[in-house]
Amino acid sequence: MELLNKVAIVTGAASGIGRSVALAYAAAGARVVVSDLQEKEALQTVDLITKAGGESFFFKADVSSAAENEALVEAAVQTYGGLHIACNNAGIGGVSAPTGEYPVEMWDKVIGVNLSGVFYGMHYQIPAMLRSGGGTIVNMASILGSVGFANSPAYVAAKHGVVGLTKNIALEYGSKGIRANAVGPAFIKTPLLKDMDAKTIDWLVSKHAMGRLGEPEEVAELVLWLSSSKSSFVTGSYYPIDGGYLAQ
Ligand code: NAI
Repeated sequence: MELLNKVAIVTGAASGIGRSVALAYAAAGARVVVSDLQEKEALQTVDLITKAGGESFFFKADVSSAAENEALVEAAVQTYGGLHIACNNAGIGGVSAPTGEYPVEMWDKVIGVNLSGVFYGMHYQIPAMLRSGGGTIVNMASILGSVGFANSPAYVAAKHGVVGLTKNIALEYGSKGIRANAVGPAFIKTPLLKDMDAKTIDWLVSKHAMGRLGEPEEVAELVLWLSSSKSSFVTGSYYPIDGGYLAQ
């Protein structure tokens, strides 16, 4: 129960990695605010937590809206009395096209969710964490926070941005009791990959030294460690979790 008496927010917690993180936080004793745009699936996450004996509620928020991030933090503090942990996980893939053909409105959307969403989140989470005596932030980047991926310019730029932003939080708040780290999963079996055909999936699998894609629960283990006091001297870091993708 390494997160006992802690209050956590997880964005994008209706599905995939975010749901696994929310379940792992709750199993470790945290009270978890499950946030997402997808109401029905998010309520299923809450249900899974409460059926396992944990405490949780759903708060609908679009991470690409500063005001909705503010309201989310307020709801956590009002309901549970503070905020200690945030996993800024919500994200979208965007379309596949080279930079010269990438739709400008899609660039704005992906940057809005995947990069501005993380900034807005932390902008409101940090003051609440300072008032709560400190906290830990885990931002969901990607292996594409450290290498490129042809035809995904917005996603790659946003995830590199998340890694840089995370380093800044470490510098600005390291001495004030807030740690921030970024996680870089390779390709993980979640609904995010649902539009890929079998041939693309096979090609992706071949890029991982372990010859398989990852599971969301494997990512949640790392997020849990980074969120807990077990990682007490870790901040400003970027942790790939990639089955050997970046080793080549
Ligand atoms: P997913 O599609 O299963 O879950 C993403 C969740 O974010 C969904 O529930 C969705 O409703 C929510 N979401 C999307 N836009 C939102 C918004 N504007 N406001 C609030 N919630 C929103 O995807 P997955 O794979 O679990 O992705 C989670 C994070 O992990 C994302 O940031 C993604 O970029 C990252 N990631 C995923 C990888 C993968 O291969 N699945 C690899 C590396 C990183």
